Amino acid sequence: MSERIYVFDTTLRDGEQVPGCQLNTIEKIEVARMLEALGVDVIEAGFPISSPGDFNSVREISKSVSSPVICALTRAVRKDIEVAADALSLARRKRIHTGIGVSPYHIYDKLRSTPDEIIERAVAAVKYAKSFVEDVEFYAEDAGRSENEYLARVVEAVIAAGATVVNIPDTTGYCMPHDFGAKIKYLVDNVPNVDRAIIATHCHNDLGMATANTLAGVLNGARQVEVTINGIGERAGNTSLEEVVMALRCHKGYGLDTNIDSHLITKASKLVSSLMNMPVQPNKAIVGRNAFAHSSGIHQDGVLKNRENYEIIDPQSVGVDESVIALTARSGRAALGHRFELLGYELTQAELDEVYEKFLKLADSKKDIRDVDLLYLVGDMETLRANHIKLRQLQVMTGMLVPTATVIIRFGDSDRMATATGNGPIDAACNAIKSMINEKVVISEFLIQSMSKGSNDMGRVHMQVQLNGRTAQGFAAHTDTVRASVEAFLDALRILGVTEKPEQES
Ligand code: KIV
Ligand code: ZN
Repeated sequence: MSERIYVFDTTLRDGEQVPGCQLNTIEKIEVARMLEALGVDVIEAGFPISSPGDFNSVREISKSVSSPVICALTRAVRKDIEVAADALSLARRKRIHTGIGVSPYHIYDKLRSTPDEIIERAVAAVKYAKSFVEDVEFYAEDAGRSENEYLARVVEAVIAAGATVVNIPDTTGYCMPHDFGAKIKYLVDNVPNVDRAIIATHCHNDLGMATANTLAGVLNGARQVEVTINGIGERAGNTSLEEVVMALRCHKGYGLDTNIDSHLITKASKLVSSLMNMPVQPNKAIVGRNAFAHSSGIHQDGVLKNRENYEIIDPQSVGVDESVIALTARSGRAALGHRFELLGYELTQAELDEVYEKFLKLADSKKDIRDVDLLYLVGDMETLRANHIKLRQLQVMTGMLVPTATVIIRFGDSDRMATATGNGPIDAACNAIKSMINEKVVISEFLIQSMSKGSNDMGRVHMQVQLNGRTAQGFAAHTDTVRASVEAFLDALRILGVTEKPEQES
């Protein structure tokens, strides 16, 4: 039986304060419900004194979510604590998270104070918070750059004042894993009343070490990890939830585990990325688009023989359907044959050898080999013609009436028109296109990003479309975002090789 590591998610507080990532209350509730389904133990819902919007979000999340503890941030200031207690009043389980800076930078330069006075203020804040709620967490801001002996005095004093959790943030992402682990060990070994509270880690990623530092903290006695989905957060971000959870799952020998339902990790990642308009880098651990994509021939061959040859995580355990075998000039015959099988072709060894030579020539000159290119290689002109889908005309009506779109598409060498409605012009246009194809496709991800600023800006669209377990990524850019979205949708449909529905059925 593993020892429990508590997950404290601060996506809605440390993550949401990133410029451009702001959410409205409805969106925050959606994320909070996702976090609840994921199984996080504590949701840091906001910093209520900072704005009426944050206050309201903490209040609404308190009403909408029942299993996790709802936490609100404060400075070590009485008014902050009163407002946080008010915002949390409707929460079933509540926590106030108060704290103050403890590094020489914060004590002397930021707070213009003294070490003893900081301890007095910390103790007073914890006691005041305790007069409102039982569960009080104290954060020793910039603990990463504080002196261990002084930090131990602070931790002892706030635990004596009633703190149930003591958070040791590496606020500036300065620490090296070995040093951060040693800091936690120092506290565990030297604070006499440390067993009366849980020690938490809260690491930032300025040197790319947030996850490593968090794990070093846990291996040295911390039992709560403060994390965000996709690692979003101030500057280079916070520790990412998915990395810590999966690192502990992959290394069961340490006997430490969280309560997270890992199958929901990808879903949570996509929700946060799309609501916060914060794309996930393709090579991001666990949740990046390439996290389960194999492109070199040796790796592809190995994965096709046994997934575990090159994968330490089963993609399905984090909610990804299957690994991706990406076709590039480095792919081997095994990968090419596998892709043809998925397309419904059973090639003999001689046919595969022949088509492989052509494939290598093409792959040398083209970065992204798509299914439609493979059809060319085997000379399947009939399917190809059906795949020649082009946008000929697009007309949308939007505003206060029912959004409607009329789309003319060229399939092969003939044009076809359809009109449909939707909950917006893009939805209406996609519905019109769907009515003209045989296959039932599902749009599983949709992201519009502006390239610069201003209302005349280009919109860059990424659309992920699924068909019977296969996934295609469509991309397009245009100053007309509806048009860019339709082009991105068609781009994905071409990759999936959809076919035109007979006229009378549409
Ligand atoms: O990074 C930090 O120190 C924080 C505290 C407010 C917990 O976010
Ligand atoms: Zn932080």
